[in-house]
Amino acid sequence: MADQVLLIRGGTVVDETGERPGDVLVTGGRITAVGAGLEVPAGATVLDASDCLVAPGLVDLHTHLRQPGQEEAETVETGARAAALGGYTAVVAMPNTDPPIDSAAVASQVLELGRGAVCQVAVAGAITVGRAGARLAPLGELAALGVRLFTDDGAGVQDSGLMRRAFEYAGGLGVTLAQHCEDNSLACGGHMHEGEWSSRLGVPGIPAAAEEVMVARDIALVRLTGAPVHFLHLSTSGSVALVAAARAEGLPVTAEVAPHHLSLTHAELAGYDPLFKVNPPLRTAGDVEALRQGCRAGVVDAVATDHAPHPQEAKDAPLDQAPPGLLGLQTAWPVTLAALTDVGMTPAGVLALLSWQPARIAGLHPDQGGEQGGPVVAGAAANLCVLDPGATWTVEPDRLASLSRNTPWAGRTLTGAVRHTVYRGEPVVTDGEARR
Ligand code: DOR
Repeated sequence: MADQVLLIRGGTVVDETGERPGDVLVTGGRITAVGAGLEVPAGATVLDASDCLVAPGLVDLHTHLRQPGQEEAETVETGARAAALGGYTAVVAMPNTDPPIDSAAVASQVLELGRGAVCQVAVAGAITVGRAGARLAPLGELAALGVRLFTDDGAGVQDSGLMRRAFEYAGGLGVTLAQHCEDNSLACGGHMHEGEWSSRLGVPGIPAAAEEVMVARDIALVRLTGAPVHFLHLSTSGSVALVAAARAEGLPVTAEVAPHHLSLTHAELAGYDPLFKVNPPLRTAGDVEALRQGCRAGVVDAVATDHAPHPQEAKDAPLDQAPPGLLGLQTAWPVTLAALTDVGMTPAGVLALLSWQPARIAGLHPDQGGEQGGPVVAGAAANLCVLDPGATWTVEPDRLASLSRNTPWAGRTLTGAVRHTVYRGEPVVTDGEARR
């Protein structure tokens, strides 16, 4: 595919330098020209981009690919295909696999599987051995393989002393710790947000404080050690306020929110439907508004999917027994676009949160030696998405590329579609269909 010639014609190019109408010529895996009215070279494949934004591919900081260990829910191959269909050209695979990504051997296995995938697959390593929260994982060995983010996601590191040591090692290695903020002593036994709806339904809740206590603690540890932190899937207005204060202080803190937390509330649980069970849980309308405003104000740096496939049998269980998590890769762009244009953001502002800002947090931006999220200019790697902000489509779970079906958007009509995705110069998605 490397010598394939593509002309992406008639769109509006959007990247971190701004917006302009223009065609994009791709040859041999790289962008070779950008400009209005480019001629079609002989033998070129033309991708129509009329009414579309042509942007650097989306970058997901938070994808559960389930391999190794839970291949009935997802594999690197199927998750990457779902990503490409969602406009992503890179994902960061979370380490809560079985076995977890807490050693160079498992990290190498996932990276190797990723080499054949239809998007770039970076991995996050575990902070602690087995994600058990007791002993540090070999961060140095993992960093030597190119791992840039470390997290015990699915669980927060409970022990503050251990977390301090993790920050000290991470700072020395130049890598970033990404925290799943959840204090177990406050959250344990909860299945949804603790509030009006959990009381009405008689379901044990997870208070906002379970998240905020750990956000506050880690900010204190960043202040102590000087090492950076990235906060995963923040869900409460209090967390946004803590991050804003830390940022004003000049601390190296970044934060992501998930599309579902920008658009759904705990009222979705009214029918005890496990499809809406997720961790952190869907919160209040006030929290949704605070997360949206955090995105608009630049306090939140990225929107990340927390794509969490689960087999149908698992999600068919009663609310208290079903695992938390929902699919996100194929719906992130329209769901985020709707939530954030609602608070006055432009599509370009939304793309900053979905592409170039997460690319930097993952260490994948061209400024850092990577090939993701960079300006659409001649010479750059051709990792691109072509997005139609006005197209509508209805989510049919059986038509999603994921091996799992646990989308909360089943049957809903969304505005915003992915027309094409180009990965390393190859059109892996054209006219909304995966090519391999
Ligand atoms: O809802 C969630 N599902 N939250 C997490 O932190 C983990 C994830 C999973 O792995 O299923």
